[in-house]
Amino acid sequence: MEIQRPRGTRDFLFKEMKERKSVETTMRRIFETYGYSEIKTPIFEELSLFTTKSGEGIKDQIYHFQDKGGRDLALRPELTAPVARMYIKELQKTPKPVKMYYFGSCFRYERPQKGRWRQFWQFGCELIGGKSPGSEAEVISMAAHCLEELGLKNFDIHIGNLGILRNILIDANILGKLQDQVMGIIDKGDIEELEKLLQDIDLDSDSKELLMKLIVMKGDSSIIKDVESLINCNEHACNALSELEKLLESLKAFGFSNYVVNLGIARGLDYYTGTVFEIYVHGLGAQKQISGGGTYNLIELFGGENVESTGFAFGFDRVMDALNKQEKSIEIERSVKVFVAPIKNDLKLKAFDIAQKLRKNGIPTDVDLVGKKLKKILSFADSMGINYVVLVGARDIEEGNVTVKDMTSGEQEIIDLEDIIDTLKSKLMI
Ligand code: HAM
Repeated sequence: MEIQRPRGTRDFLFKEMKERKSVETTMRRIFETYGYSEIKTPIFEELSLFTTKSGEGIKDQIYHFQDKGGRDLALRPELTAPVARMYIKELQKTPKPVKMYYFGSCFRYERPQKGRWRQFWQFGCELIGGKSPGSEAEVISMAAHCLEELGLKNFDIHIGNLGILRNILIDANILGKLQDQVMGIIDKGDIEELEKLLQDIDLDSDSKELLMKLIVMKGDSSIIKDVESLINCNEHACNALSELEKLLESLKAFGFSNYVVNLGIARGLDYYTGTVFEIYVHGLGAQKQISGGGTYNLIELFGGENVESTGFAFGFDRVMDALNKQEKSIEIERSVKVFVAPIKNDLKLKAFDIAQKLRKNGIPTDVDLVGKKLKKILSFADSMGINYVVLVGARDIEEGNVTVKDMTSGEQEIIDLEDIIDTLKSKLMI
């Protein structure tokens, strides 16, 4: 009986894991440069953490189960709600702002396709207790910095403010769950479905026209003036627009101006309150959104203090897809640099002894465990990109030596066993 991998999951083999590790290391380095520290939360949480305020879209996708004690639990579909829960319990007294980052897998019961998985990874951050618009500008600049550092090209950062659309809907008396439903359809980008819903709920024609115009407004900062003239009779929407304007000013100070103002961003999660942003990469097809985030108020909703919070998460798998699609070569470190090869089987114990000495002195080393012929060992070492093969031969050992073969030049050198560690360390610059 062949047991299949669950639908929407993947196995990652050696090269792919090394590439993922390399990208993860770069992301960590950049996030830490901005003062973020890593945290970890459980992979499963109480179901209600995600059903309270994450939105209908997410609820349908939750992997939900009961444990043996009858508790309703869920595999996390994202990490903002868990971080908000943790913040309330553990960090409310910590000096603000609290800057946290995380890397972990998330689970959503989606229809799997390229770039859309049932288990996927998010690399993200939450900045709690900062002040807008500075915090938002810093977070967006960090996202851009990270992608630049990874060498990703052709990405667009779209920035909007949910307060504009939501206040237009409030003005038209579209509130609560219905408002979230409208926002959810705008997020999906399904204009037909949106028109049908607006017709069903009998939205007045002026509000409908305004909404339909706003959601397609995209451009540089100059569109702010056009939006202003469209919404000027709605005070709250105008306040949201001026928040957006201030954010763009702060972004300029952070040296980032390569954004698209996009009033159609609605986000699929219901907890956002103001600034929102999404990053798209050309050429990734339907799953081109590699990141999303914004400002939210989950902490107060979960019973904590009223504190400004903002954050975002990279869809790590989509970042990997984008780098691969752009054929960006990802630097991977070959871990093993030395291979110890006994020339005859009766020298294998001596080879084990030498290999272990090298390892204990910090030299990544492999040793022949299966009695391969020397020719096979050399071609294996070559294919694995190993730098040096230590040949353990009877005559050399009698004289207290080994032979070191440089796999790049092909040259061989006899080295005193006493000096092997220092010699290899200096050759490998360890
Ligand atoms: P999200 O937009 O739902 O936001 O997810 C963040 C990113 O995860 C998406 O932009 C996408 O790249 C990736 N993603 C989502 N679903 C899948 C999937 N099924 N397969 C592969 N990748 C996927 C959040 O989750 C928020 N918690 C982000 C945030 C942090 N907001 C504030 N702080």
